[in-house]
Amino acid sequence: MSDPMPRQGARSVALAVFAGAAAIAVAAPPPPPPPTPRPSASPSRAEERLEVPPPPFSEGIFPCTGCHADLPVNRTRRTLTEMHDDIDLRHDEQHRWCLDCHDATDRDWLHLASGDRVPFEESYRLCGQCHGDKYRDWRAGIHGRRVGEWNGPRMYLLCVHCHNPHSPAFKALKPEPRPQRPSEIRR
Ligand code: HEC
Ligand code: HEC
Ligand code: HEC
Ligand code: HEC
Repeated sequence: MSDPMPRQGARSVALAVFAGAAAIAVAAPPPPPPPTPRPSASPSRAEERLEVPPPPFSEGIFPCTGCHADLPVNRTRRTLTEMHDDIDLRHDEQHRWCLDCHDATDRDWLHLASGDRVPFEESYRLCGQCHGDKYRDWRAGIHGRRVGEWNGPRMYLLCVHCHNPHSPAFKALKPEPRPQRPSEIRR
């Protein structure tokens, strides 16, 4: 455990000042405690790993190396027929191919344009390369969603919890017909 004394001291002083300011302070709620540094927090924000739920893989697909460790890498842009034929790439597909995002030699990783590998738990870093504005909004909690308890770990939903990375645009919703009045419902 790291030394809690300095903080404890500061808090007693804060309480004493607070109590001195008004007699009702005893009944009033104590001031909010200063933020406690989380033991897992890394020193640099750039390296900070966010709490996220597990990536939304289909059953049995991960680890990818379960198959790919024994498969030759095929860099040719082509229609896949033996496997992954359910993947319909519609994401800037004139300019992209699978291996722009997936690491060719270790399929259990994604990679950035710089070549840096990124684990699937941090796929937002890949998305953030091209969608910087959405990434910043997401970090700030404006875009997307964060789940969790008010004082427990806060989890960010990954971009891919909402967007299919292979075909990310939402289809326009068909408007529902207006609700019927009970008198209109014939039996
Ligand atoms: C824009 C980047 C990008 C491109 C291009 C891309 N992928 Fe992906 N792919 C991802 C990300 C990110 C995930 C992780 C989703 C998750 O966390 O569950 C993923 C997931 C997958 C999965 C796991 C799917 C599942 O059902 O769980 C497979 C298989 C895959 N990709 C294969 C491919 C193939 C094959 C191509 C080319 C036809 C391709 N990807 C193109 C980013 C990409
Ligand atoms: C059950 C075995 C299996 C698993 C698991 C699997 N793959 Fe594949 N993958 C294949 C086969 C087979 C091909 C070749 C398909 C073809 O050429 O038609 C392939 C092709 C690909 C390709 C196209 C490029 C290339 O080297 O041929 C990508 C990208 C890819 N897989 C990504 C992934 C990712 C990412 C995962 C894990 C999320 C994954 N695969 C899991 C069997 C698998
Ligand atoms: C290399 C750059 C690049 C990367 C990496 C990338 N995207 Fe995209 N994305 C684009 C471009 C360009 C478009 C617009 C063209 C299109 O929709 O095909 C686009 C379109 C989109 C759209 C649809 C926007 C609309 O107009 O409806 C969404 C959502 C999206 N991307 C999410 C993601 C997510 C999530 C990831 C990470 C898994 C990601 N992107 C990674 C370049 C990228
Ligand atoms: C909780 C679900 C959710 C998460 C998480 C999420 N998005 Fe979205 N995103 C949406 C919805 C819904 C829309 C469509 C409504 C809108 O345009 O705001 C959207 C729209 C977009 C668009 C198209 C916006 C436009 O201007 O046309 C992009 C690009 C995008 N998201 C990227 C991302 C990226 C990158 C991340 C992660 C850093 C992310 N999203 C996380 C739900 C989500």
